[in-house]
Amino acid sequence: MNKKVTKIGVLTSGGDAPGMNACVRAVVRTALFEGYEVYGIMRGYQGMLDDDIIKMESRSVANIIQRGGTILKTARCKDFMTPEGRKKGYENLRKRGIDGLVIIGGDGSFRGAQIFSNEFDIPCIGIPGTIDKDIAGTDFTIGFDTAVNTAIEAIDKIRDTADAHDRLFVIEVMGRDAGYIALHSGIATGAEHILIPEKKTNINEMVDSLLEKERRQKLVNLVVVAEGDDFGGGNEVGKVIREKLPNADVRVCILGHIQRGGAPTCLDRLIASRMGYAAVECLKEGRDNVMVGIVNNRMHYTPLDHAVKAKQKISEEWLKIVKILAS
Ligand code: F6P
Repeated sequence: MNKKVTKIGVLTSGGDAPGMNACVRAVVRTALFEGYEVYGIMRGYQGMLDDDIIKMESRSVANIIQRGGTILKTARCKDFMTPEGRKKGYENLRKRGIDGLVIIGGDGSFRGAQIFSNEFDIPCIGIPGTIDKDIAGTDFTIGFDTAVNTAIEAIDKIRDTADAHDRLFVIEVMGRDAGYIALHSGIATGAEHILIPEKKTNINEMVDSLLEKERRQKLVNLVVVAEGDDFGGGNEVGKVIREKLPNADVRVCILGHIQRGGAPTCLDRLIASRMGYAAVECLKEGRDNVMVGIVNNRMHYTPLDHAVKAKQKISEEWLKIVKILAS
């Protein structure tokens, strides 16, 4: 058990993800319900360093459950990676008596939290907020479901024009190190091929299969590529397909940051609310350095260092399904 927390700081860090606002709302309102003072730290760890910290009341989080982005803003803060930076951040917290932190972000944000907590004895609770879903210890991360649904909506539209023109489309989705957005959106839109960082891309095999589909006059050909695929992303893949399939009318579409914005889905609002509530309960129970997750629909607590290092595994069966269904 750690010392009793009295004042909680909450921040959003790393890439924004739809549902972060719903999570901030849950943290603030649960904290107030439990009798804590609660502070919003602006722009992630940067706000700790810059002393950009605001007291939150129940009304501070009114009318945000449905909004994408984050009212606390977000940033990737290099200075927090230095001991001097963290010390400055600690002093700004101490000034206000903030003695517990909730960090909504991805693995980089958890790494910072872990070091900070070890140095300054401030309990830190992580909440996985990233569209990439590349964090172990949880079945869901806040923002993933919305991002995938945004990708699906876009790819369905691309399918219409691909069909109208008999074109082959290469669609790049986000995912620097993880292929979940590509895998889920690709299966859900009936893509012929899905290229992801977790699996070495065999470009010749893919080209042969597309040639075979060309011979069979398959109507629509969609290739979904995660931006972090080892072959080099959508433009590189499109270039090779153009070279090897000169008869194909190839277009490349990079979906980019539209996947990070927009109103969160029901699932993202729900998990954000549950995780935000659970994070405050963790601090109340004296937990430290854990990430709140959901596994098999139950709350699950993973030490931050495990959530940082481990990546989820891609199921071989899912990859098999892609091949069978794209025949
Ligand atoms: O981590 C979320 C993510 O959207 C990745 O999928 C993507 O590679 C990266 O952030 C993009 O970061 P930025 O918005 O800084 O360009």
